[in-house]
Amino acid sequence: MNTQDIIDTAKALVAGDKGLLAMDESNPTCNKRFAALGIPQNEEVRRAYREMIVDTPGLGESISGAILYDETIRQQKKDGTPIVKAIIDAGIIPGIKVDIGAKGMAGHPGEKITEGLDGLHDRLIEYYQMGARFAKWRAVIAIGHGIPGRGCIEANAHALARYASLCQEAGLAPIVEPEVLMDGNHTLHRCFEVTEEVLRTVFNQLYAQGVMLEGMILKPNMVLPGLSCSKQESVDEVADATVNCLKQAVPAAVPGIAFLSGGQSSELASARLNAMNVRFKSRMPWALAFSFARAIQQPALEIWQGKEINVPKAQQALYHRAKCNQAARRGEYNTELEKQIHDITLYKHQT
Ligand code: 13P
Repeated sequence: MNTQDIIDTAKALVAGDKGLLAMDESNPTCNKRFAALGIPQNEEVRRAYREMIVDTPGLGESISGAILYDETIRQQKKDGTPIVKAIIDAGIIPGIKVDIGAKGMAGHPGEKITEGLDGLHDRLIEYYQMGARFAKWRAVIAIGHGIPGRGCIEANAHALARYASLCQEAGLAPIVEPEVLMDGNHTLHRCFEVTEEVLRTVFNQLYAQGVMLEGMILKPNMVLPGLSCSKQESVDEVADATVNCLKQAVPAAVPGIAFLSGGQSSELASARLNAMNVRFKSRMPWALAFSFARAIQQPALEIWQGKEINVPKAQQALYHRAKCNQAARRGEYNTELEKQIHDITLYKHQT
């Protein structure tokens, strides 16, 4: 492996005020999102959707890297241009989701273990040859009655570390994603405790597997109260809890932390990221960025509806959300700016 190239990729993904676009929904997840809006669910419609995204004018102004799914990295635009080439031409680094999903974990009711290590070495070599320079693996940790247990946390952390080590061996920068889910009525404090335990375990395993921390990105959840918890803390309280939790557990050698959105509304995800950068920016060892899927794509998907005629408006919505998150990285996002960016986007895309 060329160590410096991997470090350079990781740094480039969180450089300046850009962030990542996760457009790597598996076919079942993508189909679920389409079905909710009455969009037909087949390979051609998924291809058209991804073409709409990568062809968004100006996307590379705010997006450093795009995470693809296996089906997409093998697809072409209607005019025959490979999707990967379109991404590179837009100034965006292509990445690839390499886990094959979180499955029910034997002996651990209500908990999941992410699969995909078997044969991963060869798949990574193929993805590298196809142009991918970074990868993603998502582990899922649920909070509930008596869960998560150590068995689930340790197994998932071990798999994340094995994956990360294989990535670096193949020349790819790993995105390490242990997601503590928002579902449930747990408190913000409970999410803090679980997130801290998960992150400490993940970094222990990364150390045990010899993963080079300078050549990876952490993709965690924000520290949030459960969706159905009666107490929902303010944006600033969430920002403080999240950064304080990360400071306990994430070594300074990691160049960047790029959050998942996890089902938060687009505006809340931007506001919370913004608050972290306002309140802690000069005091954090790592860059705090975004790697959102739903919080960037959902408004565009709702406009697109699977129809060619809606492509320009859907692209405006995508560009707009990417720009808002770019502002949040700088600590400059607010509701007024949300509107201003909207107006500028409309102007830019009309002229
Ligand atoms: P969300 O931002 O929709 O949570 O997705 C991020 C992601 O990549 C999940 O693996």
